Amino acid sequence: MQKDTIKVAIAGATGAVGHELLRLLELRRVGVELTAVLASSRSVDKEVRFNGRTLRVQSLETFDFSTVDLAFFSAGSSVSRVHALRAAAAGALIIDNTNAFRMDDDTPLLVPQVNARELRIRPASSIIANPNCSTIPVVRLLEPVLRINPLRSVIACTYQAASGAGLTGLQELDASIREVIENQPSPARHDRFAAPLGYNVVPSIDVLEEDGFTLEERKMGQESRKILSAPALHVSATCVRVPVRNCHSAAVYVQCERPITPEALRQLWRDAPEIRVYDGKEPGDFPTPRLVGSSDLVHVGRIRQDPENPSAFWCWVVSDNIRIGAALNAVQILETLLSQRPFDLRNNRRAIQA
Ligand SMILES: NC(=O)c1ccc[n+]([C@@H]2O[C@H](COP(=O)([O-])OP(=O)(O)OC[C@H]3O[C@@H](n4cnc5c(N)ncnc54)[C@H](OP(=O)(O)O)[C@@H]3O)[C@@H](O)[C@H]2O)c1
Repeated sequence: MQKDTIKVAIAGATGAVGHELLRLLELRRVGVELTAVLASSRSVDKEVRFNGRTLRVQSLETFDFSTVDLAFFSAGSSVSRVHALRAAAAGALIIDNTNAFRMDDDTPLLVPQVNARELRIRPASSIIANPNCSTIPVVRLLEPVLRINPLRSVIACTYQAASGAGLTGLQELDASIREVIENQPSPARHDRFAAPLGYNVVPSIDVLEEDGFTLEERKMGQESRKILSAPALHVSATCVRVPVRNCHSAAVYVQCERPITPEALRQLWRDAPEIRVYDGKEPGDFPTPRLVGSSDLVHVGRIRQDPENPSAFWCWVVSDNIRIGAALNAVQILETLLSQRPFDLRNNRRAIQA
């Protein structure tokens, strides 16, 4: 039985995901003690409010991770590759929001509603990875289907919000819209997107690979197969950035082994945790990013059986990429660890000494 409080640090606390992590830990009254908020040297000494206290941002670069039991990382993959590994070596357990370790064999890729069973033992890497923000809602929908009807293939077209590129992504969207509205002579910056995003759609997210797919598209396939333990599942995606501030959407076409009706799908998803199903019986009864806003649910509508292929269906999914796709999933991983106590959460070093 653990008697002492679990001490937690947030790396990337000044960013879009970090900000939401702080809010959720507070709102959901997660029973841990937040002892450090970390970011780059640009943010050192900025103040962050948490549970009525003021915490000063410290430099991630020099922080001593042996003082905490657990650290959330959301400061980019290159930062995690150095500092999450350093934190794990100092004995802390890591919940990492980046792409750095997701496909590593010794690192579980966790969506608590889907594969919480993988949290039974402390991972050899001391890292638990949070999947990509578009992958999480899709696997949340696929898992209940997979349990009753094997999946053959999944085709996903995503419509991803600017906040997926962090706070600077949001700033660039706003600047790019102003540029058009105000007919500004000098073009706004678009470092975060492959083309200006205001009044536009950009069919390229993350690095373009040699085969013509982008890394974002590849992540959807490889991560879905790992989370669902479905190594033979065929997944293919086109990922598009759209001028929406928050909430990613996706049109998903799923080929099952046997016929499946919209009624059966609606029932499966109503019975699954934290999914809101839209019947679509009335015009306009479907989720959109503006309707969904900040939400702790996966929203699914436009559920249609393919008339030429009764074993296949389309659906439309919308979810808050900052919450469902990052911060909430990460907090729910921690909540699962705290509720199931599958292993000692204390800093590995402290646990060994105790
Ligand atoms: N946004 C999403 O929907 C989403 C979803 C899933 C996963 N993620 C992943 O989560 C991570 C953060 O995303 P975000 O949207 O929160 O980005 P963001 O708004 O740009 O925030 C980035 C955070 O990382 C910190 N940071 C950047 N470089 C650093 C460095 N060299 N050393 C220390 N701290 C550094 C920043 O600190 P400063 O303020 O000091 O610069 C800031 O706190 C990314 O890896 C992203 O891929 C994001």
